[in-house]
Amino acid sequence: MTIIKPNYIYINSKFQKNLAVVFDKEIQAIDTIENLHKKYPNATIEETKENSVLYPGFINTHVHLEFSANKTTLKYGSFMSWLDSVIKNREELIGACDNSMMMQECQNMMKSGITTFGAISSFGLELEVCTKTPQKVIFFNEIIGSNSSIADMLYSNFLERLDESKKYRDKGVTPAIAIHAPYSVHPIVLKRAVNVAKTEDLPLTAHFLESQAEREWLEDDSGEFLLFFQKFFNSSKSVTKIDEFIESFDETPTHFAHVVQANEEELRYLAQKGHSIAHCPRSNRLLGCGRLPIETLIELNIPFTIATDGLSSNNSLNIFDELRAGLMLHHLGSIEELASLFIASITSVPANIFSLNSGKIEVGRDADFALVTLPAKPSSLESIALQTILHTKEVTNVWIDGKKVI
Ligand code: BEZ
Ligand code: FE2
Repeated sequence: MTIIKPNYIYINSKFQKNLAVVFDKEIQAIDTIENLHKKYPNATIEETKENSVLYPGFINTHVHLEFSANKTTLKYGSFMSWLDSVIKNREELIGACDNSMMMQECQNMMKSGITTFGAISSFGLELEVCTKTPQKVIFFNEIIGSNSSIADMLYSNFLERLDESKKYRDKGVTPAIAIHAPYSVHPIVLKRAVNVAKTEDLPLTAHFLESQAEREWLEDDSGEFLLFFQKFFNSSKSVTKIDEFIESFDETPTHFAHVVQANEEELRYLAQKGHSIAHCPRSNRLLGCGRLPIETLIELNIPFTIATDGLSSNNSLNIFDELRAGLMLHHLGSIEELASLFIASITSVPANIFSLNSGKIEVGRDADFALVTLPAKPSSLESIALQTILHTKEVTNVWIDGKKVI
């Protein structure tokens, strides 16, 4: 049993003083240090520095580890030039990405306090790393393929990868399903994959309305995707429409990534069906996708997470780099309130979306923590979220299931 008494603890979306936490694999009690000493006289005391803040371990819901080899190869600025560069360099980038590189990126995430991540897996290449990293992983096996003639083959490959990932629940891997995107998945296999998620109660995610080009293609088979599909797939017609795609998820609350180009009516529909959004500010900026109207999400009460996406569209997997970028991108409204929502977006919100027993400092929850040390005393409790985001590059310590991993 360990007792920790930081200066501040993030409980119930607020920062509280004069409290301590006792934990083994799970959180046992939250009380004053005096009461905990009395009740747990043999517990080990974990020392903290001045101006320490204890958070639940952070959750990054959307990352592509398989693309960790990209540094300067891919073309940024517009979605279609980026996608062209991905197609052109995919084999080389995947070939250059080995287990030690992916493990290093898991470590990098951990240094920023990430104790759980959602791995979007195109090929299953990161599965071994995900079984070995101390972090918990929602392993989203991705289905892709708009061409009906190879859809069956791609679907059976997807099922094989899904089955493989089901073997490692005891290694902290939760099997899950990812739909690549509306433009790239044939509606028949889409329905089959969604049905598997529904019947087996597996987490489900999908890239959706990331770029203006995607919107034009889905709306009227025009725009930059027309040239792309003519060139690579000898096709001039989108396999689905926006409405048809959204309605496929009506009975399975889904974590949609990006959604930058959705209109208000579509956002209302997502809200009504209990869906959520993974927001990746740096990825959106680098691929020229525009700004997600986060204020509309807040108004409509759509749960959103802040996530890094992969190194194919980012320069680090550090969640604090991402939060800082988000704060600078979203200039409307109160910055302290936005910072508070951002901390919730990497803790309690993803825990609720995926029914995780982490993400909150609460009795009975997993003892997953990120301990942050601020450079000086915060001027108010309300400013701690903002000051944490501004000043943290790396956290001081990390625990997963009560075990100190940093
Ligand atoms: C497709 O199968 O349609 C597809 C695959 C990758 C990127 C875009 C489309
Ligand atoms: Fe992504």
